[in-house]
Amino acid sequence: MLKARIAVLVSGGGTNLQALIDAQNSGIIKHGEISVVISNNADAFALTRAYNSGIPREVVPKAKFNSQQKFEKELIELIEKYNIDLIVLAGFMCILSKDFTSRFPKRIINVHPSLIPAFCGKGFYGLKVHEAALKYGVKVTGATVHFVNEIPDGGEIILQKPVNICRSDTPESLQQRVMRIAEWKILPKAVEMVSFDIVKGKSI
Ligand code: GAR
Repeated sequence: MLKARIAVLVSGGGTNLQALIDAQNSGIIKHGEISVVISNNADAFALTRAYNSGIPREVVPKAKFNSQQKFEKELIELIEKYNIDLIVLAGFMCILSKDFTSRFPKRIINVHPSLIPAFCGKGFYGLKVHEAALKYGVKVTGATVHFVNEIPDGGEIILQKPVNICRSDTPESLQQRVMRIAEWKILPKAVEMVSFDIVKGKSI
């Protein structure tokens, strides 16, 4: 069967990458295959997860490049080398320029740990998002999967899932619950939806 070739871009622990690998193995993702994992951080545990699943790995250390343009050029070369149809940002902590995102319209998706448009945009990433939600005092948060354009966390929303906040929550406990209840569920689902559309387009 024709499948969309997927690059997963990561920076850290890679639990969302793991959810994608598991979804591929269990058949939740049927129309896509993870063809490469790319990290900007050579120490990311996500790279070990890729290795354990026999997925090719690449490291593009942002710090090594003295410009955003050179960093993105290296990323683009890898996207082309692996013949990628869909780029998934799964805990990728680098902002991509318009130059990059406009090359791949509706072909880059991102998972964000809040209900966009709350607690998103520049400066809102990882634990900071949950700290902000608790500080504000919202009673419901969640996760969003969206297409990526030049506005950080500003692209079209694909899926969202709400998660209740408990009185005893810390940023860490909330982060874990948002991942377990929302992110690890909606990211694989969205990847399958977009992969299906890509394959449908490819086979016409
Ligand atoms: C996840 O919560 C993801 O939504 C968030 O970082 C975490 C990465 O965890 N991403 C962002 O905040 C991007 N704005 P993981 O490496 O275990 O998947």
